Amino acid sequence: MRLAAHGFILSRAPLALPDDFWWARASVHGGTLTRFATDAPADGWQALAHRLLGAGGAVIELHDETQQTYRAACVRDERLHACLYLADGARPLPGLDWLKQQLGAAKLDKGARKALLAGRAPDGMADTGPVICACFGVGLATIQELIASGAAVSVEAVGQHLKAGTNCGSCQPEIKKLITTMNGGCVLAGAEA
Ligand code: FES
Repeated sequence: MRLAAHGFILSRAPLALPDDFWWARASVHGGTLTRFATDAPADGWQALAHRLLGAGGAVIELHDETQQTYRAACVRDERLHACLYLADGARPLPGLDWLKQQLGAAKLDKGARKALLAGRAPDGMADTGPVICACFGVGLATIQELIASGAAVSVEAVGQHLKAGTNCGSCQPEIKKLITTMNGGCVLAGAEA
């Protein structure tokens, strides 16, 4: 199954998603991570985000129509209440490491708010890069490292090592592209997504 868009929400408390979303939830320090995939059209992303995040907080947001990404964060009492990242299914999502830390932060300064919308840590902070597999939160750098080690030459092998690509399958084309690029145009024959 490949849905049109994918994304995730980091929130202090679990947020209810519409019935037609595919989603999976996990506890993280300070709250909940909900990964999802949806066929909701891009022109409805903003309204959706406001419905989910907007109760009782200030929402900051960035909708990049060229990049087909949408990002929003709800700030209450100077702390991150929830943030939502949505992208076309073929586009990567931001890395989670730094974003997860913001959920536990005592205060969001101006720089952190800007970085939330940029979807990446301010300079100098480690991250695993944009999320390639939203279902399992696997970042670009993690997959690249595995491929570079020679331990994975097929989409299936990446799935065996990292689980990436083994659920909804939306990320498999991106994983295949990475393998092809990093192996000089080759994916293991018969193991293509
Ligand atoms: S995004 Fe669903 S399996 Fe990777």
